[in-house]
Amino acid sequence: MNKALVISVTTLLAGAATAASVAPGDDAAARAQATAARLSAEERVALVHGTMPLPFGPPVTVPSDAVVGAGYVAGVPRLGIPALKETDASLGVAWVMGLRKDGATALPSALALAATWNPDVAREGGAMIAREALAKGFNVLLAGGANLMREPRNGRNFEYLGEDPWLAGTLDGASVQGIQSQHVLSTIKHFALNDQETGRHFANVVIDEAAARESDLLAFEIAIERGQPGAIMCSYNRLNGPYACDSDHLLNDVLKRDWGYKGFVMSDWGAVPGLEAALHGLDQQSGEQLDAKPWFGAPLAEAARSDRRYAVRLADMNQRILHSIYHVGLDAHPPKVQPIDFAAHARVAETEAKQAIVLLRNEHDVLPLAANLKRIVVIGGYADSGVISGGGSSQVQGEGGPAVSVPLGGDGPFAAFIAQQWHRGAPLASIASRAAGAEVTYRDGRYVSEAVAAARKADVAIVFATQWMSEGLDVADLNLPQGQDALIAAVAAANPRTIVVLETGGPVLMPWLPQTAAVLEAWYPGARGAEAIASVLFGETNPSGRLPITFPRGVEQLPHPVLPGSDTIEPDFLGNGKPGQTLTIDYTHEGADVGYRWYARNRHQPLFPFGFGLSYTSFHIEGLALSTGKETTARFTVRNSGKREGDTVAQLYLVNAVGEKTLRLVGYQRVSLAAGAASTVTLTIDPRLVGHWKDGKWQVAAGRYEFALGRSATDLDSPVGVTLPARSGNQDMPT
Ligand code: GLC
Repeated sequence: MNKALVISVTTLLAGAATAASVAPGDDAAARAQATAARLSAEERVALVHGTMPLPFGPPVTVPSDAVVGAGYVAGVPRLGIPALKETDASLGVAWVMGLRKDGATALPSALALAATWNPDVAREGGAMIAREALAKGFNVLLAGGANLMREPRNGRNFEYLGEDPWLAGTLDGASVQGIQSQHVLSTIKHFALNDQETGRHFANVVIDEAAARESDLLAFEIAIERGQPGAIMCSYNRLNGPYACDSDHLLNDVLKRDWGYKGFVMSDWGAVPGLEAALHGLDQQSGEQLDAKPWFGAPLAEAARSDRRYAVRLADMNQRILHSIYHVGLDAHPPKVQPIDFAAHARVAETEAKQAIVLLRNEHDVLPLAANLKRIVVIGGYADSGVISGGGSSQVQGEGGPAVSVPLGGDGPFAAFIAQQWHRGAPLASIASRAAGAEVTYRDGRYVSEAVAAARKADVAIVFATQWMSEGLDVADLNLPQGQDALIAAVAAANPRTIVVLETGGPVLMPWLPQTAAVLEAWYPGARGAEAIASVLFGETNPSGRLPITFPRGVEQLPHPVLPGSDTIEPDFLGNGKPGQTLTIDYTHEGADVGYRWYARNRHQPLFPFGFGLSYTSFHIEGLALSTGKETTARFTVRNSGKREGDTVAQLYLVNAVGEKTLRLVGYQRVSLAAGAASTVTLTIDPRLVGHWKDGKWQVAAGRYEFALGRSATDLDSPVGVTLPARSGNQDMPT
């Protein structure tokens, strides 16, 4: 290339860099601009593509300073730009299928976090896993799963925050705030509508723009506003045609133009269809050895030399990545490998697990367990060993690895690594330590007859039931797998004081429910799950979790009784399916009516509704008053009318909008109250939750809106109405 051309390209790049918008007072942007102007052509390209320093896929040269984990993107040491050392994920520093030998603290599943309805717990958990990431040499957490639970059989539901955009968005934003408060860059993922694993690499999701904006995209919009994540991870699937990582509309129109996002978009691992993705808004290729080519390496360098579009785009890509590095403080706060205070971190996990447990049934107050019990039998669920966890890239394990690991077997590329795993910490031991004076025995549940015989002789039988879920695989149905339904039914028939503890990744059917005395949903309860479960069983902790998802009575209640593709696509961990397959996942019919909204629209009575949860005390929520003005606010009183302290979650729903019957969570507040105490709660209602996306912006029609307090989506007080003025806007919509 002749010198004149080189000069003009370099000048062009420098000019492009200065073209990047720098908001007044945005120091990170100004610093990014100044640094970008000093980058060489090679350095510009080095920042926008990364590898996966793991022995999967085609062999790669692993940089000497890489840390065993999901990803590595080179930095520019001469300019003080740190390499990006990336680990999974939302639940802690991933164990990487045992390739890492050190342990980390496993948070409960994200669905468990959602069941706490507590942004403070989300923030504390995020800060904790970020401290562990730094102590292990990482500066990026591939966290922040925000996909809505449209599909109850989705193998990754345990990594996400339930079915409602306001609940998911506010909790995800808080979690990302916590992570980045430690100067670790967090993602929010998988953008967008990657709501099932079957066919995830090629499925085309079809949904109207307004429906997407008012559901899945709204969860991301709220989470991004609140969390200010350094990066967004685009997803594998297609969305209305283009791949999400190659979607000009999703990345440039929605994320960068409408939402004003200043960070960068990284691809999921193996999700880049070609070089043109750079022109459509993708800023960084991740795990490039999993793609057909390292598109954002030499091919992008060549394109930037000969095509102004790529030159300008490359400058913007650099600006965005550097903006995030400076915004989060990665340059000034490098990771420092050091010992971890696992005891303190375990307390963070335990607090979350305790607040996440949902008491679904408690006949004749069989719980909390009486102190004078003489014989307790604990059955199934590997409860003598540990608590179950979810599989895939988010899998965390503590020091010493899993208590139990049951490989899925087979001979696929990941077969040796995909295993159902239990975290250490046995519920049996935690129960026995509290059951002073009682004989506590265990039966593993493999033989129903043996479990029944033991149940007959016991005062209470506590059956642990597990539903393992994993990235790359959806579950075949909502029944408890491996004969557990039959086991529970037989034990309950033998002992009416049968208590079921569920450790599930999503909702399950309960054909045995009427025969049981009590049911707890403990989700995947993390590193201190055993202690949390026992603490609730014995009443040290008053259960306060509320369902972030709906439990159906049967798959016939779902928008898709048959999971799309489950009858045509061969399941495999990677969710790839055989090459050349296609799949359309059409959400047009249900649109934004995800979860409880779908049940309300169809008048389905679920098994357990969104927002449901029992307590060992009782609460009254009363006196709803609404006021309007610049903001619409709701005030009401929460009272603990029972005999012991406890937490509850006050929920506020929109039930009618200008004459249109509807159901949308518009606010919530977790409240802790001593027996007899009361407190006043004030909530500000985000107008996007009462409005609609119409003609390219949010619009709230003038008229009467009715709101109701609720203990769940199906247990609502009489509504209170208020008249709202017309209002419209885009991302600057006054909230
Ligand atoms: C995986 C997942 C993503 C993860 C990434 C790196 O395929 O979809 O959540 O962060 O690859 O492991």
